[in-house]
Amino acid sequence: MENYEIEKQKEYIKKIKKINEGKTLFYYILTMGCQLNENDSEKLCGMLEEMGYKKCENMQNADLILFNTCCIRENAEDKLFGKVGEAKKVKEENGAIIAIGGCMMQEKHILEKLNKSYSFYDVIFGTHTLHKFPEDLYKVLEKKNKIQDIIDIDGEIYEGLPIKRNDKTKASVTIMYGCNNYCSYCIVPYVRGRERSRKKEDILNEIKTLAEEGYKEITLLGQNVNSYDGGENYKFANLLEDVCKIKKIEIVKFLSPHPKDFTDDVIEAIKNNKKISRIIHLPLQSGSTNVLKKMNRKYTKEQYLELAKKIKEKIPEVVFSTDIIVGFPEEEEKDFEDTLDVVKKVNFEQVYMFIYSRRVGTLADKMEKQIPEEIKHERFNRLKELVEKQIEQNNQKYIGTIQEVLVEGKSKNNDQMLTARTNTNKVVIFEGKEELINKMIKVKIIEDGLWYLKGEVS
Ligand code: SAH
Ligand code: SF4
Ligand code: F3S
Repeated sequence: MENYEIEKQKEYIKKIKKINEGKTLFYYILTMGCQLNENDSEKLCGMLEEMGYKKCENMQNADLILFNTCCIRENAEDKLFGKVGEAKKVKEENGAIIAIGGCMMQEKHILEKLNKSYSFYDVIFGTHTLHKFPEDLYKVLEKKNKIQDIIDIDGEIYEGLPIKRNDKTKASVTIMYGCNNYCSYCIVPYVRGRERSRKKEDILNEIKTLAEEGYKEITLLGQNVNSYDGGENYKFANLLEDVCKIKKIEIVKFLSPHPKDFTDDVIEAIKNNKKISRIIHLPLQSGSTNVLKKMNRKYTKEQYLELAKKIKEKIPEVVFSTDIIVGFPEEEEKDFEDTLDVVKKVNFEQVYMFIYSRRVGTLADKMEKQIPEEIKHERFNRLKELVEKQIEQNNQKYIGTIQEVLVEGKSKNNDQMLTARTNTNKVVIFEGKEELINKMIKVKIIEDGLWYLKGEVS
């Protein structure tokens, strides 16, 4: 049934290609949100290119404007409405089609707002109807009426959509969709549906093809990757092992695991496979057992520290990165100090810090004691200060070491320099010839900074 659905969409792609024949048409895409959304956008780009559209970087030149939205925090929302306003002008000038998709479209109050104040859009689709984009677009092109294609279901998996990837060295592969965890602050379970895992064969075949195409680094993606369930007792650790067996793939990463599901077999798999990145993302969210309980994270401060310690004991070269939310409702000074305490103890190599943002429909939004903005900001700044100090100290440890790095391309700020990453995800820039791009090489680190290290080919 699912295959039939994709075949049907491929027919729509052909029909649109026919309509577009002989014209030079451009699309502009803006992706907000996480790597899962980026991966979805790569599929949208794949479909559009097969329809005959070419990508452009400037919205003003586009015949089709596409926004892939996120609603994880309020600032992601604010950004969209500004951009849709800009797109309106382009539509008035050259008749561009405006399509809006992704997580935010699964929220009722957003749809109401769009229909009331931004009703000039052409297509709206959600997280469960992305694969139907060709059909929706075809209806707009043919009938010139607008489409709102949103469904609220647990979700299905569709294989075989075309894909156009952003990069030639690194590729993301979604292994599971949705989330069942219902952390009390988080909107994702409401907009992405229930957890569902792709078949292991589909994942491994996709990665084998990527390896043949020359990709060196694979990131396995999911909202909760380590709850991957491939059936017949085939779990995330088995998948990791099998991905590492694929020749020509040099680096394997995964995002995001949940500490509660970080089982010993996963630790063993990391230990036994040098291809797996030596930076492990272990989202903490808060260091206070009290707050973690209210967040519905299902681990305590002590259990988190114990897990980090166990991983470090088994794999001493591992470092950690994390996500932290400050200003969760009812968070008190002593709770925040627990967060600072965990940051000090685990000595994270990278910390993604967020100010708590109220999300309509979540349990935390209904909690009475929301934290005033100035306290949230004050705590955020204190955390940032501590994190930056630690990162600076950690970076100094790299000086004089030889690192095996994957060369990603020319440095964005200086095209005389190349940029690469260590197996702990540190950016290294160094002088080198273009032919080193997409190769694993050794560099010696000679200088450190907050955002990158400087090296020389060794
Ligand atoms: N599934 C992943 C990632 C979720 S979204 C995980 O569980 O780690 C990425 C990060 O956004 C989360 O880890 C959390 O730190 C942050 N986040 C989620 N909801 C938020 C909210 N309402 N306010 C602020 N930050 C939030
Ligand atoms: Fe959100 Fe928690 Fe699911 Fe991550 S695990 S997506 S934070 S509900
Ligand atoms: Fe945002 Fe959706 Fe990802 S809400 S963080 S784009 S899953």
